[in-house]
Amino acid sequence: MRRILILGGTAWLGREMAEAFIAQGGEVTCLARGESGAWAPGATFVRADRDTADGLGTVAAQRWDVVVDVSRQPGQVRRAVRELQGQAKFFVFISSANVYADQGTQGQDEDAALLPPLNGDVMESMESYGEAKVACEQAVLAGFGDARSLVVRAGLIGGPGDIFGRSGYWPLRFAHPSTPDNAVLVPAAPGLPASIIDVRDLAAWIVRASLAQLHGVFNATGDVATFDEHLAVARQAAGHTGPLVSAAPDWLHRHGVAEWAGGKSLPLWLDDPLWRGMNARSNGRAKSAGLTLRPLAETLLDTLAWEVATGIDKPRRAGLSAAEEAGLLAELRSTNSS
Ligand SMILES: NC(=O)c1ccc[n+]([C@@H]2O[C@H](COP(=O)([O-])OP(=O)(O)OC[C@H]3O[C@@H](n4cnc5c(N)ncnc54)[C@H](OP(=O)(O)O)[C@@H]3O)[C@@H](O)[C@H]2O)c1
Repeated sequence: MRRILILGGTAWLGREMAEAFIAQGGEVTCLARGESGAWAPGATFVRADRDTADGLGTVAAQRWDVVVDVSRQPGQVRRAVRELQGQAKFFVFISSANVYADQGTQGQDEDAALLPPLNGDVMESMESYGEAKVACEQAVLAGFGDARSLVVRAGLIGGPGDIFGRSGYWPLRFAHPSTPDNAVLVPAAPGLPASIIDVRDLAAWIVRASLAQLHGVFNATGDVATFDEHLAVARQAAGHTGPLVSAAPDWLHRHGVAEWAGGKSLPLWLDDPLWRGMNARSNGRAKSAGLTLRPLAETLLDTLAWEVATGIDKPRRAGLSAAEEAGLLAELRSTNSS
């Protein structure tokens, strides 16, 4: 039986990977502080803080077939590489498409230029997330070498369990519009790309690839659709037949509506020319290496079911609240009719 160590495993992708490894017959240990959530049934849990001096002590004394690390802190990854180098056969690092220097150009592959690595051990804010992930990748490659490591540059992850609320916003909004005429506010986004990778597809591929010791650097992103196509699939998943009320990007920006994610946003919408490529990276290398993607309709239907099961009025980390959307719709309609 293969011995797998997940540094993390209590949040979303980490837990999904733990479950997938266990389903493949792996013996899984997850190391975390125990703050982000529960570990997968069947996994061994090691409660530890990686920021303390002996944080990896228990696991560094054991041998592992595969170590998977989801960290974004260069110091944590450097220490893991240092302490596990002699104990682990293969190291998998979950990185991000944020490592690239140019986020504007569409269709770029893994050979595109990277940001400079973050100096120091600690990423102080998400502003330097890309640089921090570059530093983590470099530590893994320096310690384990190309032949003993897999670097997975994930694109926006979606699907059931999306606590960030990005992939669930549109199907939920279409299923539960904020106004009596069932109108939904959408950005005018002709031709803009959109892309999410289902967390289950991502985890399944990482697990298959790790067990096969597939090595190298891979973009693991969803297939690219247009933003309008993405909305059409979300709308169909929700059975929405009400009007779409389209707002120009300038109008939305003037009214404080953000792109992409976070509060008072229209999730997944990326109008900024400097960021449009984020939604349109090449996933060809990973697909050639076995990444399979389920239809977007299935992801959005299942995400809608998860949103409903976990409560449609729960606090959201992304999107417009019903009151915000209703207010914006009223204002836009009064502007258009005057
Ligand atoms: N979400 C996206 O759209 C997206 C896109 C691209 C890439 N990614 C990458 O995909 C991965 C997502 O992983 P995830 O969903 O499992 O979430 P995550 O939030 O990255 O998970 C972090 C894990 O590390 C543990 N942890 C944090 N600080 C720790 C410490 N000091 N000591 C020990 N353990 C610690 C956390 O558990 P405790 O809090 O319990 O300690 C948790 O299990 C990340 O690598 C992320 O950068 C995400």
